[in-house]
Amino acid sequence: MSLVCFPFKEEDVSVVVRNIECAASHPSIAGVLCVGFSKGETWHAIESAKSAIEQSTGKSVILLQQRRIGTSLRGGKGDGMNTALVYFLDNTEYHRLHFYDADIVSFSASWISKAEKQADLDYDVVRHYFPRSSTDAMITWLVTKIGFALLWPNSILPAIEQPLGGELLVSRKAAEILIADQRVRDQSDWGIDTLYTFVMAQAGLRMAEVYVPEGKVHALYGGLQDLRTMLVECFAAIQSLRNEVIVTESRYRIENPRPVPEAVKQKIGYNIEKTLKLLKSNWSPRQKELLQEYFDPALANGMLHAIDWPCWSFADEEAWISAYQKFLDHFEKGDFDWEELLFKIWVARVLNHTMKNVIRGYDAALGALRDLIWETQHNAAIQLKASSEAPASNSAHAI
Ligand code: DGY
Repeated sequence: MSLVCFPFKEEDVSVVVRNIECAASHPSIAGVLCVGFSKGETWHAIESAKSAIEQSTGKSVILLQQRRIGTSLRGGKGDGMNTALVYFLDNTEYHRLHFYDADIVSFSASWISKAEKQADLDYDVVRHYFPRSSTDAMITWLVTKIGFALLWPNSILPAIEQPLGGELLVSRKAAEILIADQRVRDQSDWGIDTLYTFVMAQAGLRMAEVYVPEGKVHALYGGLQDLRTMLVECFAAIQSLRNEVIVTESRYRIENPRPVPEAVKQKIGYNIEKTLKLLKSNWSPRQKELLQEYFDPALANGMLHAIDWPCWSFADEEAWISAYQKFLDHFEKGDFDWEELLFKIWVARVLNHTMKNVIRGYDAALGALRDLIWETQHNAAIQLKASSEAPASNSAHAI
């Protein structure tokens, strides 16, 4: 029997309670663990609903406040998920642990059944993936998938469809590997999904992705400003791993997607008007210096022009990949100017994608994102091959 964990902060209480009830009613589930960031309104609502759900389903509902497991980074989602891993490992009656975001309006028993069935085929990790709007997932595409493609092009990482997804199942073996890893325990912030995914691949775990055709209906963002902390923490997580190597092979399987629902195709993932203002906000003289010292002149000049009038054509795919590599080498988390530069250049890149690709329709937009990952992965693999062959051919030449 399995345990379902819903990490939560302040959410729509009726959605959370309905989701707990739905998970507890599932025949494969013996308990539902709710891990709260703090004891606010949502916590108290779960506390009040708990005994009725336990009585009607005969399953346990456990309410825990997240522990401070990491010590150096902001305490956030990472501490919440790691608190659940520790609870799961201490309670050996559960064989598998599922994670679901608490605010998913479209959550249903089939999300659990799909993951359970796939895990029956001896996968250590089952991840859910779903159709997303062409202007959503801009950290996934432009930060995490690009980072995976650049740094570990020959691993399974660039192929993972939604590496930041918070909906997944882990076996006891996977949970043990994750929590034994100091890097995972330290990653108490938004970087946790990157760390979980990376460590799973580095440990050679057997991974599957299952498709949820109805998609994840949840609260969307206002301007891209709402994603700033997440962007910085996800990039810093990749940067912290940049010298790591992956030598193991993982077994990996992905369920084919189905046609994307019209509602997802038509959704605009962020507020464009609010976002335009961000290009001219919070500039300091030092940011301008860093921009001119480290980045390509076309990008630097474009960003400086955008202070006077919103423009983004300079922030194309090539410019982003080049800037990304500069950030990998020089970015300093916690330094406001570096964080602002990362954020504003990413904003320009998202606007460029929106105005150049999204405007041509959903399929063209997704096609452009996929091509970018593939081209990046391919170039990185070729460079890796060339650099691994270089010493051998030099020494052959010397002989
Ligand atoms: C992502 O990029 O996946 C984040 O969830 C923001 O959409």
